[in-house]
Amino acid sequence: MTTSYVVSNNKGGVGKTAVVTQLAFGLARAGQKVLVVDLDPQANASRRLGWSFDHANPVPTISEAIKANENGVGEDAVVTCAGTHMDGSPLSIDLLPSRPDLENRISEAGAVGAQRRLVRALTGWTDDRYDFILIDTPPSLGHLTQLGLAAADGVLIVTEPEFDSIEGAVRVRDFIEAHAIDLANPSLYLAGIIVSRLRSQIGEHKFQIDGLEEIAPGKVLQPIIPERSVYKDASGAAASITDYRTAAGRTMTEVYDQLTATIQNLAKEAAR
Ligand SMILES: Nc1ncnc2c1ncn2[C@@H]1O[C@H](COP(=O)(O)OP(=O)(O)OP(=O)(O)O)[C@@H](O)[C@H]1O
Ligand SMILES: [Mg+2]
Repeated sequence: MTTSYVVSNNKGGVGKTAVVTQLAFGLARAGQKVLVVDLDPQANASRRLGWSFDHANPVPTISEAIKANENGVGEDAVVTCAGTHMDGSPLSIDLLPSRPDLENRISEAGAVGAQRRLVRALTGWTDDRYDFILIDTPPSLGHLTQLGLAAADGVLIVTEPEFDSIEGAVRVRDFIEAHAIDLANPSLYLAGIIVSRLRSQIGEHKFQIDGLEEIAPGKVLQPIIPERSVYKDASGAAASITDYRTAAGRTMTEVYDQLTATIQNLAKEAAR
């Protein structure tokens, strides 16, 4: 059985793509088969998983799959990305990559049934192949994010423990409640809120996390992800944090192994 999560916050730079890519590595380390769908024309998830579009040798991407609007067409655009386990042995993650051309799909939003185009692209080939599908979205609640919301079982909101970011999280929560039916995905639910980039256990950040617990009781997932420069190193190098054998790298790997277990438990509970 496949569980799909769309990762969202219409506030930019809160760590959505960091969570998608490192959680994908975490799930793959735990032996899960993972597909990452990059729905952001910035293509940050694609690059951080080691993929880039080569104009000399163009291949289909999510942009072509959405444009084609045919059942199952996403399968033709899948690429496999390599990573490593803690012991250095190889692991792989499948990716439906993005490129800036995806921006051109936004103007197609008015076509009848346009919001269901990712659903169609994923139809017929993902169920037997993957345990998890993680969908990365741009910092917006517009058409591209709606493609992801229409195609996912649940939503994972990523937020920094700061006012503007939490306001973005609340918008996503309210959007799901108001529009899941409009997206022909009435069972879409808020699976959890991942707090990222914690800089201090006291003061403003603690105050904001306490407030978040009141806004969305029981939805704040553990562990909270600290702000660490090893993260920027990993995203710059398109690497898993397990590639960093420093104390910070090991701590972040542990954090992600714990978050992976949390996400696997969430999926199990939802399947009951
Ligand atoms: N826990 C963290 N510690 C340190 N740096 C982080 C952490 N999480 C993310 N970053 C860095 O912060 C920047 C923004 O993160 P990221 O790109 O993941 O955010 P985003 O929400 O996906 O952004 P966008 O809205 O543009 O898609 C990146 O440079 C990333 O490496
Ligand atoms: Mg991003």
